[in-house]
Amino acid sequence: MDLGVLISGRGSNLQAILDAVADKRLDARVRLVLSNKAKAQGLERAAEAGVPTTVLSHLEFPDRESFDAALVERLQQAGVEWVVLAGFMRIVTPVFLDAFPNRVINIHPSLLPSFPGVDAQAQALAYGVRVSGCTVHLVNEGVDAGPILAQAAVAVRQHDTRDELAARILQEEHRLLVETLQTIAHGGLAIEAPAEGERPRVRLRR
Ligand code: GRF
Repeated sequence: MDLGVLISGRGSNLQAILDAVADKRLDARVRLVLSNKAKAQGLERAAEAGVPTTVLSHLEFPDRESFDAALVERLQQAGVEWVVLAGFMRIVTPVFLDAFPNRVINIHPSLLPSFPGVDAQAQALAYGVRVSGCTVHLVNEGVDAGPILAQAAVAVRQHDTRDELAARILQEEHRLLVETLQTIAHGGLAIEAPAEGERPRVRLRR
């Protein structure tokens, strides 16, 4: 599995992937780490693991499409076949999705379809749910709206702060993301064409 990982910041999910590859728990190679932020901590993590990195700032492109075309070019040059959005804070356009059809994966810190968008952990606390969690899903044109591949639940505790809840969800993110990628590396995805008006059905082949 030839992976490209897109980040904007801390890169702890990237680290989980790099560790799993190093420990042979994930049969994959990270071909390229791309960040839209020059100061992203994840870039250091990649460099430490000997993985090539590139920074492309979206601010240097006139529109989303031209930014995405540049991302695609770099990823394809690096031999990337599957893309993981791991804390990448940009919405990707069809220019990007068409280059990697059904091969762009996102990790989100809530049980979708609840709490899409930014700061899902704070949204969950504010709503008052007793259970939240994380979701690994295929990316489509919507925000956190693509077909769900895997989810893990995390209990919300009575006096949880946003950061306490986020930390417990993050632990599950690291596990779930690596396990899902490993399942895909071995079995791939089964994708059924949707009936009219329905969502496409995607499942992990085990
Ligand atoms: C994670 O919570 C992920 O679910 C969300 O952004 C955060 C990225 O964290 N999409 P990190 O950069 O992987 O540490």
